[in-house]
Amino acid sequence: MTETPAARDEDRDIVIRVRGLTNRFGEQLVHEDLELDVRRGEIYGVVGGSGTGKSVLMRSIIGLQRPEEGEIDVFGVPMLSASERELQAVRKRWGILFQGAALFSTLTVAENVEVPLREFYPRLSERLLDEIAAYKIVMVGLSPEAGPKYPAELSGGMRKRAGIARALALDPELLFLDEPTAGLDPIGAAAFDNLVVELRDRLGLTVFLITHDLDTLYTICDRVAVLADRKVVAVGTIPELLALDHPWIQEYFRGPRGRAAEEAVEEAEARAEAAEAAEGGAEG
Ligand SMILES: Nc1ncnc2c1ncn2[C@@H]1O[C@H](COP(=O)(O)OP(=O)(O)OP(=O)(O)O)[C@@H](O)[C@H]1O
Ligand SMILES: [Mg+2]
Repeated sequence: MTETPAARDEDRDIVIRVRGLTNRFGEQLVHEDLELDVRRGEIYGVVGGSGTGKSVLMRSIIGLQRPEEGEIDVFGVPMLSASERELQAVRKRWGILFQGAALFSTLTVAENVEVPLREFYPRLSERLLDEIAAYKIVMVGLSPEAGPKYPAELSGGMRKRAGIARALALDPELLFLDEPTAGLDPIGAAAFDNLVVELRDRLGLTVFLITHDLDTLYTICDRVAVLADRKVVAVGTIPELLALDHPWIQEYFRGPRGRAAEEAVEEAEARAEAAEAAEGGAEG
């Protein structure tokens, strides 16, 4: 089969491609023939009940969990058959925020940010390491004074930001976030959501975002993948998902919390439209 230029273009726009993924722990089949495509520049949300295998999916993609079967391509590199050298080159191009932030508690925030830099660029000078760390810390909206602090001295929201600063240490093109707003109050969560969008826009990131947070799903995800029945059962915008009659999707998005998130977005849109109309009226 000859490849058309259009097909090649499309492939280039797929940052993560998973086919036929199967993961099993003993008797427990977590994923079966799962497939997904994450496109360049999108915020790709992954939602699913607790224990459906969202974190295991992320761990498979980043190579911490060897699947029983399947193909996983990241930046076009087949991760399960690539050489260590090829894998290392791909690892330089992504940043990861694990569930719970997982900062090293005995290191300061700045030292945490420096960990990936020291690992991948062992010959950087101390001065340059400090400068890069300070820059990343400010970039995620922390004050420079956060640098010498230990994780235990920070609030939950600040810890998440510190985790993002560390994930951005290597100037990644792809960011993995596992439940980044869990444990934050709604205001802190909304601020964090805004940070993710801002970073995506400014740095041209592609974001793989696992979340339970309906507000996050509604407000910042370009597409949402639903993990259920051991696979991705649907992918789309929220209105597209709402049109499906999958029982879990209906229960999740149409339940009381789903309704509240939907109404909040509708209200915000109506307010924005009214403001625009008023502005137009004043001008005209
Ligand atoms: N290393 C492991 N060994 C055995 N079982 C595991 C392992 N890692 C995950 N599991 C099992 O795989 C299933 C999926 O786990 P996973 O952590 O991916 O869920 P999740 O969708 O991320 O859930 P949550 O929303 O609670 O974070 C669970 O039943 C879990 O117990
Ligand atoms: Mg998880």
